Amino acid sequence: MSQAPLPLPAEVFAARRVALAERMGRPVLLLGNGLRARNLPKYSVEFRQDSNFLYFTGCALPNAAALIDAAGRCTLFAPLPAEDDALWHGVVDGPEALRARFAVDALRDIAELESAVTGLGLPTLAIPDEEVNRLGARLTGLPLRFGVDHGDDALVSAVIDLRSHKTEAELIELRRVAGITAQAFRLAMAATRPGGHEAHIAALFHGALAAHGLTTGYHSIITVRGEILHNPDYLNTMGAGQLLLLDGGGEGAAGYTVDITRTWPVDGRFSGRQRAAYEAVLAAQRASIELVRPGVRYRDVHMRSAEVLAQFLCDEGLLRGGVDEALATHAHALFFPHGVGHLLGLDVHDLETYGDRPAYAPGRVRSTEFGTAYLRLDLDLLPGHLVTIEPGFYVVPAILHDPALRARFKDQVDWDRAESWIGFGGIRIEDDVVCTQGAPEVITDGTPKDIPTLESLIGQGPSALERLSL
Ligand code: GLY
Repeated sequence: MSQAPLPLPAEVFAARRVALAERMGRPVLLLGNGLRARNLPKYSVEFRQDSNFLYFTGCALPNAAALIDAAGRCTLFAPLPAEDDALWHGVVDGPEALRARFAVDALRDIAELESAVTGLGLPTLAIPDEEVNRLGARLTGLPLRFGVDHGDDALVSAVIDLRSHKTEAELIELRRVAGITAQAFRLAMAATRPGGHEAHIAALFHGALAAHGLTTGYHSIITVRGEILHNPDYLNTMGAGQLLLLDGGGEGAAGYTVDITRTWPVDGRFSGRQRAAYEAVLAAQRASIELVRPGVRYRDVHMRSAEVLAQFLCDEGLLRGGVDEALATHAHALFFPHGVGHLLGLDVHDLETYGDRPAYAPGRVRSTEFGTAYLRLDLDLLPGHLVTIEPGFYVVPAILHDPALRARFKDQVDWDRAESWIGFGGIRIEDDVVCTQGAPEVITDGTPKDIPTLESLIGQGPSALERLSL
């Protein structure tokens, strides 16, 4: 049982509960995740608390619940220590110590939850743990399935409203996590060598985060096959002439993750084609970041990157017919097939369990068009929105060899020239950007991305394997 203190100041959680109570005007039941068995019933997979539960309580104890009354007062239900817990886990908090640690109004044994809330018809939310959802459905009468039956609709609206706008307390934590993650990126860059292995970089990167008390907010992508957008494996030896793409972010105890991507040449020098493509992606990213301002529609932020990349594709002779035609027909998406970013926070795609509801303004629906179908966000930006900006350029054989796409874009692509790029891989550059009243704040700007800095860092000092060796 974790003895850690609250991960953010107690008044932050208290204020969130009051804000929730003001929106709901009635008591609310929140459920926390339980432990899930791994290989033996008593050994569990790594525990991560439900994001909403973490948001309103800061409590990362498994199998907890919270009853928040109409004034925002909180009763936390938690498993109380068994008699032999001190033997196996060290001295653990009793009820009063737990109440004080989580700064709640009351603390009760989780065994009392059922009798305390049954029949009250309380609003609640589905969580990732389906076993707890079954209990929650029984206690509240609501169908609960994570990502499907979300729970009480007014409660979903309140959660989206509150979590969508980051406060200074959240940004302080995110900047801290971004700073540590930047150090891990620098280490990975310095340790990259031809002949090294993706798995060595992964070990170093994750070790550097762990050494500072961070886990990762999502499965890191660390690959020389950057054209595979969410490549999950670390199986390749890194060769001279290849690009290494690292998409990873630390997550602290408060649950906030950053989401950063950098791409760099394994041998420390960008080739001519790599440099041209990298500069185009960087220019696209900077142009989009500049647009992260109040009132700007996120779709336009996406299209700004598309425009800069389309110009590059025309300049390189990959596309014919000019930028306007490329954008009108979506031909640029052959090489930039995803959206320019998403909301970020306690979840890497923040609140995406609620589908497009948090991310598309009322009346807007996601396009089914090639390219924009993967645009995860289409809000008019407001101060407090935290978004990623992550344009990319990818040479994807599965796209360029697709018969239907070749027929559709027959006259717009120089297919022979495109073929000569096969094997290039992919480039993505991603930062996390806060919309403010003024200029956008790039909270991840401690992670280098300009070519001179990258070239001065890559391969400096021992290799990843040397650093990991005893
Ligand atoms: N950076 C990983 C993702 O957006 O899914």
